[in-house]
Amino acid sequence: MDLERKISDRSALVAVIGLGYVGLPLAVEFAKAGFQVTGIDVNPLKVRMITEGESYIQDVAKEELKSLGERGLLVAVNNYEPLKKMDTISICVPTPLSKTKDPDISCIIEVTKEISKALRPGQLIILESTTYPGTTDEVVLPELEARGLKVGKDFFLAFSPERVDPGNTMYTTKNTPKIIGGVTPRCAHMAKELYQVAVEKVVLVSSTKSAEMVKLLENTFRAVNIALVNEVALMCHRLGIDVWEVIDAAATKPFGFMPFYPGPGLGGHCIPIDPHYLAWKLKTLDYKARFIELASEINTNMPYYVVNKVADALNSFQKSVNGSRILVLGIGYKRDIDDIRESPALDIIQLLQEKSARVFYHDPYIHQLDEGLGVKYTPLEEKIVREVDCVVIVTDHSQYDYQWLVDNARLVIDTRNATKGVQNGQEKIVKL
Ligand SMILES: NC(=O)c1ccc[n+]([C@@H]2O[C@H](COP(=O)([O-])OP(=O)(O)OC[C@H]3O[C@@H](n4cnc5c(N)ncnc54)[C@H](O)[C@@H]3O)[C@@H](O)[C@H]2O)c1
Repeated sequence: MDLERKISDRSALVAVIGLGYVGLPLAVEFAKAGFQVTGIDVNPLKVRMITEGESYIQDVAKEELKSLGERGLLVAVNNYEPLKKMDTISICVPTPLSKTKDPDISCIIEVTKEISKALRPGQLIILESTTYPGTTDEVVLPELEARGLKVGKDFFLAFSPERVDPGNTMYTTKNTPKIIGGVTPRCAHMAKELYQVAVEKVVLVSSTKSAEMVKLLENTFRAVNIALVNEVALMCHRLGIDVWEVIDAAATKPFGFMPFYPGPGLGGHCIPIDPHYLAWKLKTLDYKARFIELASEINTNMPYYVVNKVADALNSFQKSVNGSRILVLGIGYKRDIDDIRESPALDIIQLLQEKSARVFYHDPYIHQLDEGLGVKYTPLEEKIVREVDCVVIVTDHSQYDYQWLVDNARLVIDTRNATKGVQNGQEKIVKL
């Protein structure tokens, strides 16, 4: 078959649509495997940066981008013109939630329409964006077949969820096994041929729906377990027990237990969002996804719990939140990354401001916040730490010196157990 030959001799022209946290590392892996890759993104700034060899994704090195660009293996454009020439097209566009927490798959629909206009025999289309089970078969496929070409015979369609974990240096796009489900066995086979060139291990499942569900199981598993441990933290608080000690001790069990840790709430583009895609789909089938709803309720309430802790701690110093100067430390949704999407730090800042606190923030990766919060960045200097009434650690970062922080601060609210191991000043620390 022509496409198989083109994949094996690397003459296949590969496109990746959506060059974000998922799409850019994938495009780079394809290019490193020797394919000529065209990245397509609606954001002209990203296209310009790639063209100039500048990386905006922490996990992609600028030198690598530059070198791939110079060797003609990676180009970026902000139009869909090249689609007709492409042999394979991977779709990595965003799948957010609407305000009412319903799936917003408008980017997938828009891109599918563009691909449909350009579709020709022999092309392989792979959807990577996280979405509800049925999207590939019920939304993407009808649009692509509308012009008369037949899936599995004329063109190939598969779903392959992205599992990238931004900032994780041990597991990257390359060495994280890739799940693939095809509309037909031939579609799955073609997608496997392509991906096994760029990633170390490919795992086939029987359908696109199964592949879509795999991703949702993985992320629902995390959302539910995080909610469970968050609730255990609330229970331990009532019981006067140190939740961190309990988790660490439970984690010594060599089987049947996996530690999860409490925190200020969920963040990022996946865990707080993806389970709602599943719940929404089930609602259309008259089924209530009870675990998902309960987990969401508990996790969404964590920023309120943190703010109550701040208020109680200030109260014990005869201070009110109103008028207090509060330094929020760590804005990214997790350690050592610059992504603030859905970060609970934003909720905590807003809740503190609503109570008339004077809030500042520090994050080594985020020097500007355009979230309409009117909160100012401040360098992490001794003078500032000494002046503020309270420091709230929302996200710990590897470069923070917590002993120094506790030595200098008046009061530290630690939502992430970041001050574990600090020797002096424990009496100033309030844990989650
Ligand atoms: N970020 C993660 O850790 C992660 C992990 C696994 C899966 N995912 C899933 O992968 C998908 C992409 O996520 P992401 O984090 O890379 O998002 P992102 O916002 O970082 O990147 C998406 C890119 O798509 C571009 N885009 C939007 N509409 C477009 C269109 N119509 N045509 C071309 N480009 C368009 C945007 O400009 C952006 O650059 C989502 O479904 C997400 O749930 C994300």
